[in-house]
Amino acid sequence: MSASKPTLRWGIIGTGLISSWFVQDLCLERENAQASHIIQVVGSSSVEKGNRFIDAHVQQRQSRPPPLCATYEQTYRDPDVDIVYIGTPHAFHKQNCLDAIAQGKHVLCEKPFALNAKEAREVFKAAGEKGVFVMEALWTRFFPLFEAFQRVLHRDEAVGDVVRVFCDFAMNQSLSSLDASSRLKNPALGAGSLLDIGIYSLTWGLAALDSQMGGKAQQPKIVAAQTLVDSIDVASAMILLYPDGKQGILTCNTSTKTPPVFCRVEGTKGHILVEGVASSAPRSFTIYTPQTPEGQKYEFERPGKGFYWEADSVALDIAAGKTESVQLPWAETLRVLDMLDEVRRQGGAKFPQD
Ligand SMILES: NC(=O)c1ccc[n+]([C@@H]2O[C@H](COP(=O)([O-])OP(=O)(O)OC[C@H]3O[C@@H](n4cnc5c(N)ncnc54)[C@H](OP(=O)(O)O)[C@@H]3O)[C@@H](O)[C@H]2O)c1
Repeated sequence: MSASKPTLRWGIIGTGLISSWFVQDLCLERENAQASHIIQVVGSSSVEKGNRFIDAHVQQRQSRPPPLCATYEQTYRDPDVDIVYIGTPHAFHKQNCLDAIAQGKHVLCEKPFALNAKEAREVFKAAGEKGVFVMEALWTRFFPLFEAFQRVLHRDEAVGDVVRVFCDFAMNQSLSSLDASSRLKNPALGAGSLLDIGIYSLTWGLAALDSQMGGKAQQPKIVAAQTLVDSIDVASAMILLYPDGKQGILTCNTSTKTPPVFCRVEGTKGHILVEGVASSAPRSFTIYTPQTPEGQKYEFERPGKGFYWEADSVALDIAAGKTESVQLPWAETLRVLDMLDEVRRQGGAKFPQD
């Protein structure tokens, strides 16, 4: 690793599935890494669990001493931690962020950044006052594929003017077999398809329908419906209606599986299909125009899962003295959460914290 590359020392909060994927990716040897990442401390509600996590996901992978196992609070306070990664259920994101910010730490917090826009505004206010970097870990936005997708649509206008976008994220979460305390079933933990997976459908729709983000983006009208079971949304459907007539038809579901083509963008001169196992982890996209009726496919290599792209981007931003990401600014996280709030207002899914 070149000395000119920035190094970040991470404190990991929560030892569940997503934290395991994140740390494994950060430990990968990569030829084109833009930054160096050290897993410094693992914060867990249980010492045993934390140590098991370190053994299973970091110990053999990191070419440095293994991380310390600590409580959440010790992790926030550790002077050798530069940035805290938050991998807890959505309902704890606000408090975990506030606690880390209070100790002057930078923060990368899993999606959805908070349960609603009000909570997110509170966190960004605290980050602004403390002058620390904070970003939502919407990892897909940092895939080279995602950037290429936006470039061909908006700069190259590969399919002309965008007219409609369909995107779906469905996965069978076997909810009936889960315990009521699961984060996928308990409304107090933020359960529901919309915030868990629908946020990706919305992300692709917004990126395809508008080249701008945050306050500069056009504001579509939203029409939404949700299927509620035991007060959580097991399916959500959103239609975005833009002032010029463009439409986004964006869906999510917890009892079926999206086929490998999860997104279709139709324009005045052709269409694009986006392929992958899920809309969170795209593999390729194919452009169909009268000149390429068989389709021109763009494939992208992705060693590991692809979490290092967001981590590298964060490291570069922090090294440059920024407090928010250009690729995912606070205003865009808030815009998305405002939309998710509106979908839930129309569809009926509520959290006790709302
Ligand atoms: N980017 C992605 O692709 C992606 C994928 C999956 C999930 N996520 C996001 O990551 C977050 C965590 O999801 P996950 O699937 O990793 O969840 P998970 O497997 O249930 O893990 C969550 C961890 O949070 C900690 N935690 C603290 N209080 C908890 C409580 N009351 N109930 C359950 N866990 C608690 C636990 O760690 P300790 O016991 O060690 O404290 C637990 O292992 C969610 O916000 C989700 O949206 C993102």
